[in-house]
Amino acid sequence: MKVLLWVLTLLFTTFFPAGAAPGDRHIVIETQRTALVIRVDQAGDPTIVHLGPRLQRTDEYAGVPENGKRGEDYTTIYNSAYTPAGGRNLLEPAIQAIHADGNPSLDLKYVRHETRNEADGVVLTTVFLKDPQYPFEVSLFYKAYQKEDVIEQWSSIRHSEKKPVRLQKYASANLYLPAQRYYLTNFSGDWAREMNPQEVELTAGLKVLDTKLGTRAHLFQPPSFLLSLNRPAEEETGEVVAGTLAWSGNFQLQFEVDPLKNLRVIAGINPYASEYTLAPGKELVTPALIFSYSNMGKGAVSRNLHRWARKHRIPQGEGNRLTLLNNWEATYFDFNEEKLSALFKDGKKLGVDLFLLDDGWFGNKYPRNDDHTSLGDWEENKQKLPHGIGYLVKEAESAGIRFGIWLEPEMVSPKSELYEKHPDWVLKLPNRPEYYFRNQLVLDLTNPKVQDFVYGVVDNLLTKNPTLSYIKWDCNAVIYNAFSATNPNQQHLYVEYVQGLYKVLERVRAKYPTLPLMLCSGGGGRVDYGALKYFTEFWPSDNTDGLERVFIQWNYSYFFPAIATCNHVTDWGKQPIKFRTDVAMMGKMGYDIVVSKLEEKELAFSQEALKTYARLKDVIWKGDLFRLASPLTGDVASLLYVTEQQDRAVWFSYLVGNRYREGSQAPIRLKGLSPAKRYKVQELNIFPGTNSPINRNPVVLSGDYLMTVGFNPMVDARRASVVLEVTEER
Ligand code: DGJ
Repeated sequence: MKVLLWVLTLLFTTFFPAGAAPGDRHIVIETQRTALVIRVDQAGDPTIVHLGPRLQRTDEYAGVPENGKRGEDYTTIYNSAYTPAGGRNLLEPAIQAIHADGNPSLDLKYVRHETRNEADGVVLTTVFLKDPQYPFEVSLFYKAYQKEDVIEQWSSIRHSEKKPVRLQKYASANLYLPAQRYYLTNFSGDWAREMNPQEVELTAGLKVLDTKLGTRAHLFQPPSFLLSLNRPAEEETGEVVAGTLAWSGNFQLQFEVDPLKNLRVIAGINPYASEYTLAPGKELVTPALIFSYSNMGKGAVSRNLHRWARKHRIPQGEGNRLTLLNNWEATYFDFNEEKLSALFKDGKKLGVDLFLLDDGWFGNKYPRNDDHTSLGDWEENKQKLPHGIGYLVKEAESAGIRFGIWLEPEMVSPKSELYEKHPDWVLKLPNRPEYYFRNQLVLDLTNPKVQDFVYGVVDNLLTKNPTLSYIKWDCNAVIYNAFSATNPNQQHLYVEYVQGLYKVLERVRAKYPTLPLMLCSGGGGRVDYGALKYFTEFWPSDNTDGLERVFIQWNYSYFFPAIATCNHVTDWGKQPIKFRTDVAMMGKMGYDIVVSKLEEKELAFSQEALKTYARLKDVIWKGDLFRLASPLTGDVASLLYVTEQQDRAVWFSYLVGNRYREGSQAPIRLKGLSPAKRYKVQELNIFPGTNSPINRNPVVLSGDYLMTVGFNPMVDARRASVVLEVTEER
């Protein structure tokens, strides 16, 4: 008998080496280099058994042990692919529902799954789950982008119970990662202080990142994170996951080190004040968590996200962008037609493609002369602009420059005709005083009539002015006074607001598919891939101080590509115009300065820089980004953009400390070049009247040398910013 048992055990462990039992099935979601594997056991429970490098042989996933379970999992579902609350779950759930009959528990068993090729290199796997006792279903979606090593994961929930089901939580994604230690980097912020990274080691229990701000939702915290396994995240080595939730409203990201010391990640809409009542036959589709895993550090995951965003998410992500001159800091609210006409001419002289008219052009009963009035009254102010926008568009065009305009269509000022006419369109609480954020209130985008109004604002402007070439869409207030006068379910407000916003943006995009749109929210208060499905670019921060921007742009660059990152040269900060220009070039460049106040050399430098930018922009926008030296750990920041063909690169370096003799004392090693190719290194953006020590003795070096020994860009207090072009010598 003992021998038989021994033989059976041997046979079993040979075919199911560890973890898997006979009858278990495996759902394998793979990209070129990574895999996410779901095991379905005989009880029908779907659990995650692998998230990491892809194995060469798919059949070997069956041998993956029970995901490093180092101890007793009392429930067997600590690593659930979508943890249901109630029943036997003991940890943080992904979904929590109260059935129509009041039963507060959920069980989700595997029904079937299917895999479909959505497009070249895009594979969608859908896993269908169902409660065995209730007609309640959840589908898990995993869209795997093969070449980019990115997975987009979301869920949909539906039921056919007799009455509505109350969803107290409805996450998008539930991941499971076993390691010895976990390091989480999140990014806190505020106005003009966006994207400050903090890395902490996660300890047993739950860490929550969230927002409850509604609109301008990412003011304090964006929905983006880096997770490093076993050691703090490094640029080019180590296991790192970069994740970001595609949702412009309240989100919740949870990181739970479970009793087995494994990490559970649950990401989705914030359930705060948002119990969702789901009617029978209706479907709730959650926003996607977009993530990339690599064992080659933060650099690899961010390059993966950049490639993915350009190819699959951002409108015209591989197309062109317009350089522009904005008048916000040049004039604030104080302008008229003459002033603007002079600015158009200045923009033309500078050499930009477009003039962007910012806040202050609208409102008549209540003219917009400061930020207390007029939002909602989107007609040209007759005193400032007696001939209207159409006239300005023509004036700009005859000056040889295109024209764009600022809007903040989701908002309303308490002093506005819109508020007077439609008080029920405004989010505000009965029996309470109104609280204002930047002296304004938020429109109720859950109301279809308000959605029509907001769409109409954009559509009317573009219908009247068909050559209007750019819209900056701002959003300066959070949701205070969260109450809708028309929505029958106040608990749906935060969710339906964002859904309403996306409906409007869908309509705008359907009619104006190629219009450049800038996503702005009092700086970077709304930067996520939910909104970036509609916007060609985003405004990272009102803080345009060159030095500050080195840090802000560095941190955004973990998740968002240069082509979508708007950087303007302004008068903020103490750095010379060369420094500010060099920093602005690392993205989509623009200006917000009074051109006529530039000194002769500054103007000549800027004109030349725009020409250089036109020549280099494709390398910066579409190349791979390598972060060479971090401003967070040293006195020099250094970043390199390399083309896919590895024939051209643009290299930016900045002095970020000002202690005695700080600078690049030694060579900096380049990355991403071809070792076999030979490259010429030349300095660009040289300020008139200064010389480049690098161009004095031009060098041609192999990629091997540049990546092994490196090259010193000679950054110091006299050369606080240096731009080098690295070109293949054939
Ligand atoms: C906030 C934006 O971030 C600024 O660029 C500017 O457009 C102002 N709003 C205008 O009110």
